[in-house]
Amino acid sequence: MKVIVTTALRPSAKIMAMAQNLAAILQIPYVVRENHSIPMLKEIYKTDLLLIITQRGPVVTTPGGNFFFHLSMAQLRIKNIINGKHDHMAAAMDLKPGMSVLDCTLGLATDAIVASFVAGTTGYVKGIENSPLISAVTRYGLQNFADADSDIIQSLRRVEVETADYLKYLNNLSTDSFDIVYFDPMFRRPIQSSSNVKPLRYLADDRPLLPEAVAEACRVAKRRVVIKEAHNSAEFRKFPLTALQGGKYSSIHYGIIEISG
Ligand SMILES: C[S@@+](CC[C@H](N)C(=O)[O-])C[C@H]1O[C@@H](n2cnc3c(N)ncnc32)[C@H](O)[C@@H]1O
Repeated sequence: MKVIVTTALRPSAKIMAMAQNLAAILQIPYVVRENHSIPMLKEIYKTDLLLIITQRGPVVTTPGGNFFFHLSMAQLRIKNIINGKHDHMAAAMDLKPGMSVLDCTLGLATDAIVASFVAGTTGYVKGIENSPLISAVTRYGLQNFADADSDIIQSLRRVEVETADYLKYLNNLSTDSFDIVYFDPMFRRPIQSSSNVKPLRYLADDRPLLPEAVAEACRVAKRRVVIKEAHNSAEFRKFPLTALQGGKYSSIHYGIIEISG
């Protein structure tokens, strides 16, 4: 997967410095934008994947569309929670203020932001993401996105991001380090209506969740391990679930492993 970093047209010194800095961190080539259009850059450098640093943050071009940070459903879900409505993920986690959540599959951090809102200022959410490009875009968004109410923005700012493979990360954690360990792996069969996920699919680690990682998660979690999957997914059968939850008409379900003792 060849990627190059560049900037928007007529970049400020700050944007150029950010592009060069990200190129160094991600160890991918930085190219000066000059007056080239995006199609020209793709042609010159023989790649569809450009990480473009713009005034509004990093954007990755993919054959499935542009990948950039946005709140996706996080804002609506948080507003629903404020209005006393049920959030299936928070319910599956049995998440309460003050709890800690390890989100092993951070992606765009929609779930992590909702978890951070529910866990509150006394809680803690850490997100692990194996794709360096997704991680860079999401980290920037969590630290800089400002177009929402302040309680939502504070929920973003509290999420910590680590670029890592979740199995390696879990292996290095001590027993009972987090209340909840959460997995939302790439679905084996993509849900067509989920167009937000389309550009992410080109950048994501799409390996299936393995029982070995879930066993490690059960060691690391004090209360619950929660796995999000498509409704009726055969993947659920791989794990020792104690419950399965989700909306009656929802395309998504949550497998729960309650940690006893
Ligand atoms: C379906 S997306 C998660 C979406 C996320 N829950 C959200 O609300 O935005 C799955 C993400 O997990 C990441 N991932 C898959 N396997 C991983 C692994 N072994 N370690 C860390 N991240 C992984 C993928 O790169 C992808 O970004």
